[in-house]
Amino acid sequence: MSESKEKVLRLLKENANSYLSGQDIADRLYITRAGIWKIIKSLREEGYDIDSVTNRGYRLNTSLDCVNASFIGSHLSGLKEAPKCFVFDEVTSTNDVAKNLLSKENADGDILVIADSQTEGRGRKGRVFFSPKDTGLYISLLTHPEIPFSKATAITCIAAESLVLAVKDVLDIDVTIKWVNDIFYGDKKVAGILTETFGSLEEEYPEYVITGIGINIYPFSGKLPSEIKNKAGYLISDGKPVDNLKNLLCVKFIEYFYHYLKEADDKTFLEGYRKHSNLIGKYVKINSYGRSSKNEYALVTGIDDECRLTVLYDDSKEAALVGKEVSVVKY
Ligand code: BTN
Repeated sequence: MSESKEKVLRLLKENANSYLSGQDIADRLYITRAGIWKIIKSLREEGYDIDSVTNRGYRLNTSLDCVNASFIGSHLSGLKEAPKCFVFDEVTSTNDVAKNLLSKENADGDILVIADSQTEGRGRKGRVFFSPKDTGLYISLLTHPEIPFSKATAITCIAAESLVLAVKDVLDIDVTIKWVNDIFYGDKKVAGILTETFGSLEEEYPEYVITGIGINIYPFSGKLPSEIKNKAGYLISDGKPVDNLKNLLCVKFIEYFYHYLKEADDKTFLEGYRKHSNLIGKYVKINSYGRSSKNEYALVTGIDDECRLTVLYDDSKEAALVGKEVSVVKY
């Protein structure tokens, strides 16, 4: 999508379901009236439902739940480290866009990227993160935390706990955490987190960190990839749009995230993270990748202060797991 088309669409979305005059759009975006008309025509051809009424202007008829950069920006303005917010309709991966924006903007502050869909959304261990249009919220937050590379898993845990609290505040729904980065509603995965660190490994601290969060809000329409068909869940399973939900989730998530990031050394997030864990006390299969193909089984006893999953094997040996994936054994 061209840059001016993207801008017109964004403006219409920010004023969704109300009219904006052609002159107003032209003045704000420095595009001629004729140019705007062409863009509106092309947006309609792409399927956007845009009314035009003489003397009133254009109106995008859309769901009540649209991401709005000004809403998010103004609600985060009280934060000392408020990130600069960018919203897109479609991107490859919000994590990649955040990284590119950092060099493009020549910024040293934090960056928030939100997209309505991703064509190359990715998850842990190189998996694809299915990110279709209109149903989810795909966020990347680029920050400069003072957390060494060796402790970066804490950032994923902080994000997970922040998301659980945000969902509770906004929707009064109890979701749980499957160590280390998955969020579940009942027995279905509704969100995933991918933290990527950047910088020189010779240094103790990363230059910056990008935390990507993908949330399935409304049910996907159409065919689902077979890998997630029976595993994916949604926060709003009846699919009825909830007014302003994406914006509120985003704001709440970011507020909690910064709060816990500041206190990362005190590990205040861990108390909630453990409370919301859906693995503690469960018997699990420890999936092995790569070198060893032998799966192991153990009882999960807790999550230690280094964010490792502590387990007790059948032969009574104890271990603290890092970088593994486990699945609950169902009898
Ligand atoms: C996982 O389930 O393994 C993690 C999924 C993380 C998905 C989010 S969506 C926003 C950000 N951009 C990406 O490409 N991935 C993360």
